[in-house]
Amino acid sequence: MHEKVVVVTGGGSGIGRACAERCAASGAWVWVLDLKAAAAKETADRIQAQGGRAEFQAVDVSCSLSVEQAFENIPRVDGLVTSAGVAERNPLGEQEEAGWDRVMNVNLKGVYLVSKAALARMRQGGSIVHISSAVALIGHRNRAAYSATKGAILSLTRNMALDYAPRGIRVNCVCPGFVHTALTAAIFKDPARAERIRALHPLGRLGEPEEIAKAVCFLLSDDASFITGAALAVDGGLSAGHTADI
Ligand SMILES: NC(=O)c1ccc[n+]([C@@H]2O[C@H](COP(=O)([O-])OP(=O)(O)OC[C@H]3O[C@@H](n4cnc5c(N)ncnc54)[C@H](O)[C@@H]3O)[C@@H](O)[C@H]2O)c1
Repeated sequence: MHEKVVVVTGGGSGIGRACAERCAASGAWVWVLDLKAAAAKETADRIQAQGGRAEFQAVDVSCSLSVEQAFENIPRVDGLVTSAGVAERNPLGEQEEAGWDRVMNVNLKGVYLVSKAALARMRQGGSIVHISSAVALIGHRNRAAYSATKGAILSLTRNMALDYAPRGIRVNCVCPGFVHTALTAAIFKDPARAERIRALHPLGRLGEPEEIAKAVCFLLSDDASFITGAALAVDGGLSAGHTADI
């Protein structure tokens, strides 16, 4: 990805940070965007310490003005990773409206606003990778708002792939299984729950952010030049089916 300009939202932590670092290691000039400016700066500092090229910007992806300002200094965009995301763990009947709105605004409206800003700076050609989730491929209990956003991202990926193919812009999404990040840290406070989740993955473990980043960087790169509109499960087999021997 030599000389390519890649923007990563949610780049201050977890999957976004791993994507930013991997893109930079393969030669991209990476713009790290995150709600937490200090976390975004830390990612950019880590990349620079490894000899890579990175900038950081604070952004609230759910706010159009904030997104506009964050993109102001970005000269052009060749690649975009939308990893900023939040989760709520409730069935629909117990989901408070404020939390529903927060998840919708960050996970879905945020993808819309950031993609729009990036598309305006893409020339002919480019690649967008949205971070959806395995919850978009198979049902998960207690994740009404979160699942709704991740399923919507899957549909949006296909729509965008069709709309922007004439401009040579490829749009794909990655659907991770459970990955060790700040988002899933609560799981490990309950060993029984951690074991239940581990056992759902046929490969017998959770994923690491770097394993998601490898798939994302592949889709961003010219190696994926004939892939658009795809949803790539990177989930240790979680969405392949249940693990019970029946
Ligand atoms: N960790 C998993 O198991 C897993 C599984 C499937 C999908 N995902 C998805 O991967 C993406 C990244 O998650 P993660 O696990 O790395 O979580 P994380 O909490 O480590 O990172 C998410 C980042 O998004 C940022 N963010 C939150 N709200 C924002 C906003 N309004 N504007 C800008 N940035 C904001 C946070 O500050 C944080 O740095 C999310 O979209 C998540 O839904 C995660």
